[in-house]
Amino acid sequence: MEQNKVRIAVLVSGGGTNLQALIDAEARGELGGGEIALVLASKPGVYALERAANAGIESVVLARKEYSDSDAYTKALVDKLTEKKIDLVVLAGFMIIIGEGMYKAFPNRIINVHPALIPSFCGQGFYGLHVHEAALAKGVKVSGATVHFVTPECDAGPIILQKAVEVREDDTPEILQKRIMEEAEWKILPLAVSLFCQGRLKVEDDKVRIC
Ligand code: GAR
Repeated sequence: MEQNKVRIAVLVSGGGTNLQALIDAEARGELGGGEIALVLASKPGVYALERAANAGIESVVLARKEYSDSDAYTKALVDKLTEKKIDLVVLAGFMIIIGEGMYKAFPNRIINVHPALIPSFCGQGFYGLHVHEAALAKGVKVSGATVHFVTPECDAGPIILQKAVEVREDDTPEILQKRIMEEAEWKILPLAVSLFCQGRLKVEDDKVRIC
């Protein structure tokens, strides 16, 4: 029943370990019937593109620096994702702020993974290692990861899943990042995508109900 599969695009900017977790979940039959149909990178040469090639997944580079502004880039994104008949967009370490046109084209159909327990350590400037530097600077005893729907306000959309991870006294940002990826991100991102593909996520009053 190939034609009934949810077609997923994974948007990446870097190493793509979350992409790999999604690829592995699909290979195990754990993506709720979803199919990764496209990997889209915001710059050439990133390792995520190699992961896509190794898995036989079509990929495309839309380099942000080739577009004059966010609106022009967003239009190119929407055009490409529409052309490829994408049903669900997953931001997996995609380090570009997307514009209004994306939310209109894919309402409640864009999912992001963030490496902290939102609403802590999120919003403008909180991405990648900066998130873990801020968590360690504050001295929190737990951090974790959040998967949420993307809305125009940065990191503020309805929360789908969260998982807490212990912070240890001798952690560096790199060590904490790795633990949060292994114990949280690589688990809850594929799970959230699977729930979406099964039609089990309902958004009501800006909150997600899993049914
Ligand atoms: C992940 O930790 C992801 O949560 C984070 O970037 C990393 C990408 O790693 N995303 C953000 O900070 C977005 N605000 P990956 O390329 O290996 O998946």
